[in-house]
Amino acid sequence: MTEKRAALAMVAALTPSGVIGADGGIPWHLPEDMKHFRRVTLGHAVIMGRLTYESIGRPLPKRRNIVVSRRLDLQIEGCEVAPDLERAIALARDSDDEPRIIGGGQLYALALPQATRLYLSYLEQEVAGDVYFPEIDPAQWRESERRQGEGVCWVTLERRPV
Ligand SMILES: NC(=O)c1ccc[n+]([C@@H]2O[C@H](COP(=O)([O-])OP(=O)(O)OC[C@H]3O[C@@H](n4cnc5c(N)ncnc54)[C@H](OP(=O)(O)O)[C@@H]3O)[C@@H](O)[C@H]2O)c1
Repeated sequence: MTEKRAALAMVAALTPSGVIGADGGIPWHLPEDMKHFRRVTLGHAVIMGRLTYESIGRPLPKRRNIVVSRRLDLQIEGCEVAPDLERAIALARDSDDEPRIIGGGQLYALALPQATRLYLSYLEQEVAGDVYFPEIDPAQWRESERRQGEGVCWVTLERRPV
């Protein structure tokens, strides 16, 4: 019998060695990947760690923004703040069947065991950084889509039923 998990997607861009960030930001500028990010997140609830929120610096428009933080007094205009990942996901599911985890490294690592779909942008070039995407076990994932861009390959992975 296969176990049916509630849908949860993660969206991330990473280098060949898994770098996703450097010095509190993303160490590359790829307009085509920003379009891809917009396309896969628009209309969804997006869940992010407090540090990722700070690096973006504003709520993402046309998306429900949920920021995860242990700071109980944190208030951010245009965002909901959740004290842990579970409560963030529960809030998001009030309005969205497939919320998007949009980073950063801490949130990806926390959410990966529950994720059912990964939207990954694989950069071709290596870039130095200090935050990494968690290791993915290829046996648990099946590729459903692959699209080649300039210097980046967009891959969608679906979790295999257990
Ligand atoms: N390449 C990409 O696709 C991508 C996407 C997003 C972000 N990034 C990059 O990733 C980096 C940021 O990632 P990061 O790992 O440093 O930080 P992060 O995951 O964005 O945020 C970490 C913060 O989330 C909160 N948090 C983490 N675990 C928690 C838990 N169990 N319960 C409650 N709150 C929790 C804490 O906030 P408090 O300290 O407020 O408690 C923590 O400081 C930046 O460089 C950013 O640019 C890259």
